[in-house]
This record gives sequence, C-alpha cells and structure tokens, in this order.
Amino acid sequence: MSEAAGIPFARPDIGTAEIEAVTRVLKSGWLTTGAEAAALEAEFSAFTGSRHAIAVSSATAGLHLALEALGIEAGDYVALSPYTFASSAEVIRYLGAHPLFVDIEPDGYNICPDALATSLAEARKNGRRVRAIMPVHIAGHACAMGRIRDIAIDFDLPVIEDAAHAIPTTDDTGVLVGSRGTAVFSFYANKPVTSGEGGMVTTDDDEIAHRVRLMRLHGIDRTVWDRYRRPGAGWSYDVVEAGYKYNLPDVLASIGRVQLARAGETHSARARLALWYSRHLSSVSGVTVRNNPETKPELLATDAWHLYMIEVAQAKRDRIIDYMAREGINCSVHYRPLHMMSYYRSRYTLHEGDFPRAAARFLGTVSLPLFPGLTEAEQNRVVTTLVQAIDVHSDDGEVTRRKGS
Ligand SMILES: Cc1ncc(COP(=O)(O)O)c(C=O)c1O
Repeated sequence: MSEAAGIPFARPDIGTAEIEAVTRVLKSGWLTTGAEAAALEAEFSAFTGSRHAIAVSSATAGLHLALEALGIEAGDYVALSPYTFASSAEVIRYLGAHPLFVDIEPDGYNICPDALATSLAEARKNGRRVRAIMPVHIAGHACAMGRIRDIAIDFDLPVIEDAAHAIPTTDDTGVLVGSRGTAVFSFYANKPVTSGEGGMVTTDDDEIAHRVRLMRLHGIDRTVWDRYRRPGAGWSYDVVEAGYKYNLPDVLASIGRVQLARAGETHSARARLALWYSRHLSSVSGVTVRNNPETKPELLATDAWHLYMIEVAQAKRDRIIDYMAREGINCSVHYRPLHMMSYYRSRYTLHEGDFPRAAARFLGTVSLPLFPGLTEAEQNRVVTTLVQAIDVHSDDGEVTRRKGS
C-alpha cells in the first residue's frame, strides 16, 4: 500500500458559495420546496433552453414521472440499452411495463440505432406494445440522436432521454440535451452538477409538464408554497390523482443553483482533465479510449465528461482495479449490463450472450477518477499506477511499455 493520500473516484466540488446558499436557506424559515426550487427550475430552463423544467427529488423519480406522463402502462415495453444504471429500467418496472433491451453500438457505450430499428420492427411483428424509446447518454456522451429521432418518427414513438450524466451534452445534430423533447437529469452527489440528491425533468410538451408537476407532489392541485406563502391564497386544496412524493427541497435546490451557475467552469475543468488523461494514455499499450478528445477534439465541448472510461484486457480488469485500490486509487466500473443482473436475468430469462457487445464492453471497462479538484500530480499517479498494474498482471510475462519505447 502506498504512503500517499488516497485518490477518490469522485469528489463533489463544493465551495463557499454552496455553503453560503445552504446557510441562507436554513436561516430563511422555509426548508422544503419553494422559491429556491422555482428559481432552479427557471435557471435550468434558461441553461438548456427548455420550455419547461421541473425539479424532482432524483433522476429516478423524474424518469418514473416522465414515463407515467406518457401513459406507459402494465404490459407495455420501453426500448433501452442494458448498458446503464439500475434506475433506467426499474422505472419501467414501477409501471408494470417491461424493458425491451437493445445492444450497444459497435464502438461505444450507447444504444445502437441499427439494433434499435431491428428490435422495434421485430417487436411490432410479435405484437409487443412498445410505447417509448429511452436513450441513455452514458458518461455524458450523446447517443446518436439524429438516427434515433428518425427511428422514433418511423415507429411513431416518443423519446425520453436519460440525461442523468449529461450536463452539458450536445448531440450529433448540434442540439443541447434538454433543449427539445423530454429529458431527465440527475443532481446526485457525483454528477457534474450536484445538489447532493435531486433531478430535473425538461420538456417542450405542455401536457407532459402539467402531468409531471401534478404527480410530483401527491396529485395535489396546488403547491404547498402557493398555499402558505401567497397572501390570501387560502388553505384549501384538492387531490385529483394518486401522486408521488418526488419534490426537491429548497435546501438542496440552493446547492444546485450555485452548481448550475458554475457549470461552465466545472465542465471546462472536467474536459481539461479528460484531455490530459487521453494524451498520457495514448502511449500506453493495453489501454483503449473510445471517446478520445485527443483524436476527436470536438468531444471536449460536446461531452459532459461525467466519467472517464477506458478499456483494458478483460482477463486483467478486476486485478488492475484491485491493484489500483491497494495503491489508494479508487476506480469504478460503468456498467455491469442489466441483462447480467440477477433480477433481469431471471425475470426475462436472459443470457450474457443476448447482448454481446454490452457484455464484452463491460468486461474490459474501467472508469478512472475524474472530478474538478483532481490535480495533475494525482492524474500522473493514476496513469503511472495503471501502467504498473498492467505490467504486474501481464499474463504472458511481457512487460508493458510505453508504446514505441
Ligand atoms: C444512467 C443513469 N440514469 C439514472 C440515474 C438515476 O439518478 P438519481 O440518482 O438522481 O436517481 C443514474 C444515477 O447515477 C444514472 O447513472
């Protein structure tokens, strides 16, 4: 074990402005959803250019509300890739609907448009009621939204973007994620813009916005803020639906507001760190970087850089991560695909080989530490330790060298 201090996988970038904002709300006498959440919604709308922005307690809650607003029901299907976090599919199950899993791209981590078109055609032939497409922008790298929107039009399906990683992400048609259609963002602690826990639904559809707002807080026809604070507003309210408790409290919204105001600064820091990794890893044999800003500089601006994902030899992956951990460097894996998780495997009788690209990509992937406060010395240590880890676990005894050395 190294003597040096450990390097965490992620660390929230919280400064005095966030602390002052929370203190201000704590002293204000109003802790739950109110003026701060409303201000965050207005600021998020301005940031993304979305017609509506609705603050929620998490992206999981937001995805649930968005699917519910589309009228997804028991027995329906929603198409998505299994290469994602549990939330994306569990919200489909909340409604009694089923995931229609579709494999990922040949050279990426996002849903494959060709496989999507094929799966939708098959599902239609087999009489399955597919009701929506959910592209997930893994690591803040946009799905092939141009093709996906065309496919959605062909099959007459709505698109709900899981944009949990995607603040800010621009897609292949030049559209900022959240500025059109319906998207759901996460403010979870390790996300590029955080409020500790929280999320935001953006939509340009007035009916979806109305339904999400209503169901976010118990199906009550008026907000608590409106009932208590507006002079003469009165106490009375009606319950018009059996809704949920998915509101974002002001204490958390106040952190999100400061983080959103700093999103440009933190995004630049993440992009700079990603470029540094890419430059220094390009000379290391045994490492693949698919979303590589050194060879595709446009990614610096278009990707949110929530995660920095690399691939190593599958047989060594776990030992490399263990070696790094012993040296005080915490890496992570995004993701063990959902079709390889017990619940989905047994519920839908799925096998690893059903989505071979997702399965193969998972076996080699490693996410390196990435957060705005990461120093160059720490990044150097990550890369040096990674090279050592690959060397030590070189199965055939061959010492890994810098490419060309
Ligand atoms: C792809 C994806 N979707 C949805 C979520 C859910 O976000 P939250 O924790 O805000 O519910 C996450 C969380 O990490 C995620 O990674």
